[in-house]
Amino acid sequence: MTDPNHPLNIDTLAIRAGGMRTSFNEHSEALFPTVSFVHESASMAAKRFTGEEPGYIYSRFTNPTVDMFEQRLAALEGAESAIATATGMAAISTLAMTLCSVGDHIVTSGSVFGSTLNVFGAQVMGKFGVTCEVVNSTSLDVWAAAIRPGTKLIFLETPSNPTAEVFDIAAIAEMARKVGAVFAVDNCFCTPILQRPLSLGADVVVHSASKHLDGQGRVMGGALVGSKELCREKVYNFLRTIGPTLAPFNAWVILKGLETLPIRMRAHSENALALALWLEAHPKVAKVNYPFLDSHPAVALAKRQQSGGGAVLSFTVKGGKAEAWKVVDGVKIMSITGNLGDVKTTITHPASTTHSRMTQAARDASGITDTLIRVAVGLESQNDLQEDLNRGLSSI
Ligand SMILES: Cc1ncc(COP(=O)(O)O)c(C=O)c1O
Repeated sequence: MTDPNHPLNIDTLAIRAGGMRTSFNEHSEALFPTVSFVHESASMAAKRFTGEEPGYIYSRFTNPTVDMFEQRLAALEGAESAIATATGMAAISTLAMTLCSVGDHIVTSGSVFGSTLNVFGAQVMGKFGVTCEVVNSTSLDVWAAAIRPGTKLIFLETPSNPTAEVFDIAAIAEMARKVGAVFAVDNCFCTPILQRPLSLGADVVVHSASKHLDGQGRVMGGALVGSKELCREKVYNFLRTIGPTLAPFNAWVILKGLETLPIRMRAHSENALALALWLEAHPKVAKVNYPFLDSHPAVALAKRQQSGGGAVLSFTVKGGKAEAWKVVDGVKIMSITGNLGDVKTTITHPASTTHSRMTQAARDASGITDTLIRVAVGLESQNDLQEDLNRGLSSI
């Protein structure tokens, strides 16, 4: 469907890329809830199992609905290939386990999702002799000092959760190339609609498809996006054996979610920027973190890398933890839940929920203070959201 001489717009790719029709000519993509596929002969079965002949075999590693999702996501990220996983964490642990062996070294930003740090650290990869250095800074000098020969994987999220730090993807990609490390960017907050890390030099994009790719908080999913060699050879072999596979039903829901991703991401960004500007002027608010605010320390970089600020903002209230909890308890529309990337706006107090398993020292280093509140802005009316937060803030 893609002609290199006439590349399709991302809005078209979100709806059309990867679509396949069965002999029934269905218009909406088909869901294949089947564990295995039938072969016409013993010889066909044998050829499919060795890979000599293409064809579906067993849904742990081949399923047409999952295929459609993978192809559509790869097209959106401008990649050769993608491989779907059961969750975002399955994607991250699959990547680390595929790439790293005993003695290898991972460099990660400290501002990544808490469970990601647990995978790279003593809880998982550390048990297999892999060491991990955590960088708590956006400074390129600090990254350059952490990356060394022997570094196999470099991992970051930009913008970060929940403090909206922005990292220079192109500059860190250059450092990764020099030592032959694989550079992975978790693009969960921006999605390919707002940021395409591969075009800036990253090697792999990681997704929690449970977030914006689905967009309505319905199913879990994940994906790794990158070269054919990485996805179809290295990761595919791991996934085929170990089995952190995306279920066909979940793949179908997310595939259909991708169709509205461009309009959703632009609307999320518009709503979030308006709310961030309003919060900045609120007397009970000390500081607002949002990449497209002029007050953000890396606003110029964010505007270079991203075409929109995304849905997620965070802010600190004047006072302490009690005041922050009052704001959370005071809202009536926003949902008090740790999830994000939903059309429904969510509000959370990261220090006591999503980031509570981090040590106090690690939270302090990442700026996740007791007064910090994160809002993942949905698609409700801007006026209603302001009124809702105002209700919370007025209760202080
Ligand atoms: C940025 C980011 N990456 C990865 C994950 C993990 O994804 P999942 O919950 O699908 O395993 C999350 C979950 O919240 C996340 O916020």
